[in-house]
Amino acid sequence: MEKTKTPLLLIISCLLTATATAAHSENICQGKENLLKFNVYVQDIRGGPSPTVYTVAEASITANSPTSFGVIHVVDNLVTAGPDINSAAVGRAQGLATFADLHTVAASENINFVFTAGEFNGSTISTTGRNPVTNLERELTVVGGTGAFRFARGYAITSTYSDDTAADSSVLQYTFYVARYAGASRDSV
Ligand SMILES: *[C@@H]1O[C@H](CO)[C@@H](O)[C@H](O)[C@H]1NC(C)=O
Repeated sequence: MEKTKTPLLLIISCLLTATATAAHSENICQGKENLLKFNVYVQDIRGGPSPTVYTVAEASITANSPTSFGVIHVVDNLVTAGPDINSAAVGRAQGLATFADLHTVAASENINFVFTAGEFNGSTISTTGRNPVTNLERELTVVGGTGAFRFARGYAITSTYSDDTAADSSVLQYTFYVARYAGASRDSV
């Protein structure tokens, strides 16, 4: 019987051979676990007639804080396959962002990616972590998921693809690197 590598070595060797993909995902590693890499875009609409980001609470010091410390936003942002808001909708990014750093503009986030179309329709990915929103690239933790993402773990690199200050909205790019058990799918249980 062929000797199999440990999952960790497998993931490392997969990362080394991973190649960039566009708005679709591909299996970049075969085995008991596989590592998916894919991009999605989040339409972060704070202003205008139909915002999808709302402020739900703030602290006594928020208004005078250079880092908006204590403000809590709840989001239900459209997730699209491409950066254009009219590109294929693939789901929503739902959750909380709390500005939780007194000295740097950084949010503590809990966001669930809920896929409602495409390859991952019906599955979710849960992310958490610290988001220093003014950094060029931010890294969030993938802590798990449901459906196709059962047993998932990994990370997401997010960056601001574009900003529209007049409309008070941004397009955020998320590149997910998700290791998941190869047998995990909605139909496999
Ligand atoms: C997503 O899955 C649901 C439930 O199976 C189905 O009703 C819906 O048509 C699917 N949507 C797309 C866009 O595939």
